[in-house]
Amino acid sequence: MTPPSAWGVLAERLAATQRRVRSLESEPDRRNSFLPYTVERDSAYAEFEGSRLLMMSGYSYLGLAGDERVVAAAKSAVDTYGTGNHGVRALAGTIPLHEELEAEIARFAGREAAIAFGSGYAANVGTVGGLVGAGDTVFIDKYDHASIVDGCRLSGAEVTRFRHNDVEHLGRRLAASRTRGLRLVIVDSVYSMDGDIAPLPQLRRVCDEHDALLMVDEAHALGVIGASGGGIEDHFGGEVRVDVKLGTLSKAIPSMGGWVAGDQALIGHLRYAARPFLFSAALAPAQAAAALESLRILRAEPERVAHTQHESARLRDLLSAAGLRTAASETAVIPLIAGGDETAYDFATACRHEGVIALPVVTPAVPNDLARLRIAVTARHSKADIDFAAEAFLKAARTSAVLPS
Ligand SMILES: Cc1ncc(COP(=O)(O)O)c(C=O)c1O
Repeated sequence: MTPPSAWGVLAERLAATQRRVRSLESEPDRRNSFLPYTVERDSAYAEFEGSRLLMMSGYSYLGLAGDERVVAAAKSAVDTYGTGNHGVRALAGTIPLHEELEAEIARFAGREAAIAFGSGYAANVGTVGGLVGAGDTVFIDKYDHASIVDGCRLSGAEVTRFRHNDVEHLGRRLAASRTRGLRLVIVDSVYSMDGDIAPLPQLRRVCDEHDALLMVDEAHALGVIGASGGGIEDHFGGEVRVDVKLGTLSKAIPSMGGWVAGDQALIGHLRYAARPFLFSAALAPAQAAAALESLRILRAEPERVAHTQHESARLRDLLSAAGLRTAASETAVIPLIAGGDETAYDFATACRHEGVIALPVVTPAVPNDLARLRIAVTARHSKADIDFAAEAFLKAARTSAVLPS
């Protein structure tokens, strides 16, 4: 039998994707993914096919996307430096803005130094690969972000998963490990699909008991948890420290890029050992300037953090009191559990008809029967917006049979 041609094999894969996409998007009303919303610069509303809808699935937790100071900083960086860099960071790509940004990140994170990557994804892949390799073992939470998983795969280290936020299970995994190399535990500070928080004090204790380092991904914690939006250490009162702190510049900070903060030795090592830092383009000037300005605003305007925390709690209470399941959310990220994938699509569509954008997350991104709308409160949402959203969610939940009508 002649083997299938390479094009034949690829064509089958492409057709399978097409079939899945077509079944999802067969009815105009069911389209949910890749829709081009234009969010207004100075509100939480977005334009979609001629309608003005309240955006409840954004990631700009501090409401800084479109902030005129951030936009001005980015424009000024383009005027000074142009639109791109002249190479990777190690070869002509470093500009003064990168160093200013890294100093601001270090200050924000309460560490000696920081390193900025082109994305949060690159930061995870580069950091895990820069810290561990063959002979080492990484312990990751089952719900850790894909970029942590990919970093682990590429690193060549042994990977062990533990049940979500289950410190006892992690302890058993650590106790059973026979590695003679480094042990590294990695968790998300805030889980992006459930909005719950990693139990830092207990994690610290179990890591110390078993001589493991603890790394956290602050992607959804920066600007979101802690009295001043400082992330997980701030949330737990500043007493417990992690060993490696990492985050993105693409959510509460409305730019692109990733970072790691730590002592000089750790950051100095990553400058040479993290491959995406060495072999991928530096942050563009506008991105670096936007991130720098946003971090300064976060420091100067902590009321943004307080507003988001207050309105998230209020929305969660309103919805759960009316019977909607919000999983273990304690942050600005609030899942509205729909059940099956189809119900989640119907729920999202009904929300759009009620004037609200709430995007569905379905399998395999979440476990079976836990498909949901992933909503997030930002500092752009006024009290009236949240009241409107709560009413819309409840009406839509009834229309789509998530709640009894
Ligand atoms: C927890 C977490 N880590 C890392 C990333 C990747 O960040 P970026 O989009 O900046 O590459 C994301 C983005 O979705 C995330 O949710």
